[in-house]
Amino acid sequence: TVYTCILLISWVGAHMIVASGNNAALGLTTGNLTSMLAYCMNILMNLMMLSMVFVMITMSMASARRIAEVLNEKPDITNPEDPDFDVPDGSIEFKNVTFRYNSKSEKPILENINVKIKSGETIGIIGGTGSAKSSLVNLISRLYDIEEQAVKDGEEPIESYVSIGGKDVRSYDLETVRQEVSVVLQSNVLFTGSILDNLRWGNPEATDEECIRVCKLACADEFIERMPDKYNTHIEQGGTNVSGGQKQRLCIARALLKNPKILILDDSTSAVDTVTDAKIRKAFREEIPDTTKIIIAQRISSVQDADRIIVMDDGKINEIGTHDYLKDNNEIYREVYLQQTNDNGDFDKNGGEM
Ligand SMILES: Nc1ncnc2c1ncn2[C@@H]1O[C@H](COP(=O)(O)OP(=O)(O)OP(=O)(O)O)[C@@H](O)[C@H]1O
Ligand SMILES: [Mg+2]
Repeated sequence: TVYTCILLISWVGAHMIVASGNNAALGLTTGNLTSMLAYCMNILMNLMMLSMVFVMITMSMASARRIAEVLNEKPDITNPEDPDFDVPDGSIEFKNVTFRYNSKSEKPILENINVKIKSGETIGIIGGTGSAKSSLVNLISRLYDIEEQAVKDGEEPIESYVSIGGKDVRSYDLETVRQEVSVVLQSNVLFTGSILDNLRWGNPEATDEECIRVCKLACADEFIERMPDKYNTHIEQGGTNVSGGQKQRLCIARALLKNPKILILDDSTSAVDTVTDAKIRKAFREEIPDTTKIIIAQRISSVQDADRIIVMDDGKINEIGTHDYLKDNNEIYREVYLQQTNDNGDFDKNGGEM
């Protein structure tokens, strides 16, 4: 429309100028035509803006609808009617646990898991990628609910639950469970703010001394002390100004600040060097003996001194045992163990062949 108008005005205007000759009194001059074009352009531009407003309104209406949809979403996991606020101890039990993320999918992610963990025990979990290690521990803090077992006609219903301290996780108040079960997730985030601010996400009321104590436990104090502003060092959005291993140690410290009954580390020392990793585990053993510790790791060295190790394979528990037992008797564990010990240095043997 804009360009048609310009063409039309120029064409008609030009004809009028030619028809009037050089006699300005009779008709249009070139100057008049130019100003007319400028005015028309102004009007047309504003009309265009007006139509843009309508486009914007339609777009924002669609966005508003999406936001409302998210805000109105009802969570599947809800508090029970009469919630329990007291977690007696850090014992955990999985009984006949089957779990799917999508109820329609055929193969369950976790199948028939049965395991009892005593309070204060250290449990290692090892298994290939996608063997549902994270899914298993996410059930403890009730990030997901387990599947109810279908009852067939005439058969006794099969009891299935995940329990903490002898009581079903579904009977607890959600916030209580999340407070008592501290999870350091596989992918962690730090926020903009000082180190102390970041730690206090775990417990807003923690004193400076408590923060320093947990940093010592997580072996984070040694690098914090070397920073110019120590505990007040500013952390950039997403923790970009600390290294991967430093970030993991800060996240472990943050989880410890909650004083949980159960501590879950999901591959949380993968970027920490083995010496520091061992120091952290030693500190855990000595300083928080009553906390149940569940350590998911890819490195055998991270789990080998655990009381028991669970070997996961494709959503099932392959075997549970101590390091010495599994090393000699479990196929999967032995393979990983040999790969990580004897075969070290294989990269160089072939003279860099790829
Ligand atoms: N939120 C999710 N929604 C749907 N499927 C999922 C979800 N999270 C994981 N899965 C599926 O569940 C299976 C187990 O995943 P899980 O994250 O538990 O494995 P993992 O043992 O922790 O692996 P890794 O060692 O890589 O962390 C995978 O096949 C994955 O595709
Ligand atoms: Mg995982």
